[in-house]
Amino acid sequence: MERNEAIKTESAMAGEPGGDEASRGKAPERANTRANTRKVFVKTYGCQMNVYDSERMEDALTQGGYVRTDRMEDADLVLLNTCHIREKAAEKVYSEIGRIRRLKEARAKNGGKLTLGVTGCVAQAEGEEIFRRAPVVDLVAGPQTYHDIAAMVARAEGGEKVIETEFEIEEKFAKLPAPTRQQTIARGVAGFLTVQEGCDKFCTFCVVPYTRGAEVSRPASQIIEEALRMVDAGVKEITLLGQNVNAWHGSDDGNGNGGAMRLGDLLHRLAEISGVERLRYTTSHPIDMDDGLIDAHRDIGKLMPYLHLPVQAGSDRILKAMNRHHTAAEYLDIIERVRKARPDIAISGDFITGFPGESDEDFEATMEIVRAVNYASAFSFKYSPRPGTPGAELEDQVPEEVKGERLARLQELLGEQQQAFNRDCIGRTIDILLEKKGRHEGQLIGRSPWLQSVVVEGDLSEIGHMLTVKVASSGPVSLLAERV
Ligand code: 5AD
Ligand code: SF4
Repeated sequence: MERNEAIKTESAMAGEPGGDEASRGKAPERANTRANTRKVFVKTYGCQMNVYDSERMEDALTQGGYVRTDRMEDADLVLLNTCHIREKAAEKVYSEIGRIRRLKEARAKNGGKLTLGVTGCVAQAEGEEIFRRAPVVDLVAGPQTYHDIAAMVARAEGGEKVIETEFEIEEKFAKLPAPTRQQTIARGVAGFLTVQEGCDKFCTFCVVPYTRGAEVSRPASQIIEEALRMVDAGVKEITLLGQNVNAWHGSDDGNGNGGAMRLGDLLHRLAEISGVERLRYTTSHPIDMDDGLIDAHRDIGKLMPYLHLPVQAGSDRILKAMNRHHTAAEYLDIIERVRKARPDIAISGDFITGFPGESDEDFEATMEIVRAVNYASAFSFKYSPRPGTPGAELEDQVPEEVKGERLARLQELLGEQQQAFNRDCIGRTIDILLEKKGRHEGQLIGRSPWLQSVVVEGDLSEIGHMLTVKVASSGPVSLLAERV
């Protein structure tokens, strides 16, 4: 897979269509070979919001004199932008720190220096504990502090142990520098734009409300400005990001004095920008799926027919224990209304197996809702108790092997549905956005309206263009197409 090697996305987390999704549209930037320039390597774990944050930190550092490198071995500064959503994700970070410790020691022996920072949700959740467990780390910075990243790095390079985990989200967006045109161009034709951050929902399994803080929406004017800049740099497809993106709210005049706006209204505004060819948004919560947003799927041609709407479980008892604020029937009703508005819409979801107290019968209800919805793609996980969340305190934890067996059954069903969805595309004529070169010479990879990768023959000069193709065959995760 082609990707910007300096931004590595390790794991597929959800709302977060996967590692592939998180790194799409990237092209390597030219390496700077000046020997005296300090080099930064950012490694990104987890969701697309982290990808977006990593890009902003890179922008701040490169505008402050750093250059990016795609090799950790060459870096003077390594930032690990981390994910804390499941235990495995957090543990990966510590094993990476172990590897970097050896690199740092080898560098020190030769009189060199390497500064190591941990940012993101592990930094926020663990704080000082990171220094205790991994003294090799020089900097710990939570997700709401990145506007100060350059200053924090300078202090860490001066030998200080720097820790910053305050919640200052408004400042983060107001003060982070805008990417330069060149930086945006280098990231490709499909770009992410964070419109909302944090979460007030407090699902009982989830750390996000603790690591990302309360829900905050960026002002509409700031978002539109950023979208205009992206388009000016050649971006054709914008994916609006937020932990709870459909909880976004704003006002017409951007100062809170105009008419109230919800995500559907924002999508209308963005669709008016000439040069924006496609719009997407992720991740949504069922209870924020308002009529305006559902209607937007009917009324905005540029809004792609794809909805990532996690349900997590199919049993009302478990949904209640998860604090999801909706029943299975209410979720199905939303799906029905969305499909009425946009009949060809692809539905994607997130699922958890083995939440505390989940019986065989509860799990069967999850299988049932999957059958009822018929998903085009999905992300599913074994329940991972996260310290500090209510779920972790519950007594009736489900044994690992039961979680695993249920996950295997669920993934088999979801896999069949995804393959069937892909197979249904065969013979259809569709428009794809050509995003990057393919694995083989003369091949390009484009994106279908339903977020599938589409392999087609083509020339590199065509990247960034829309192309009409006919789907010839399908695999589990991609389509093969011919020009028409
Ligand atoms: N265990 C397993 N999966 C989780 N998710 C969030 N927290 C946990 C957890 N503790 C999953 C949910 C969510 C996605 C981002 O990650 O499905 O939608
Ligand atoms: Fe976590 Fe639930 Fe908020 Fe999603 S809605 S970020 S799962 S607490």
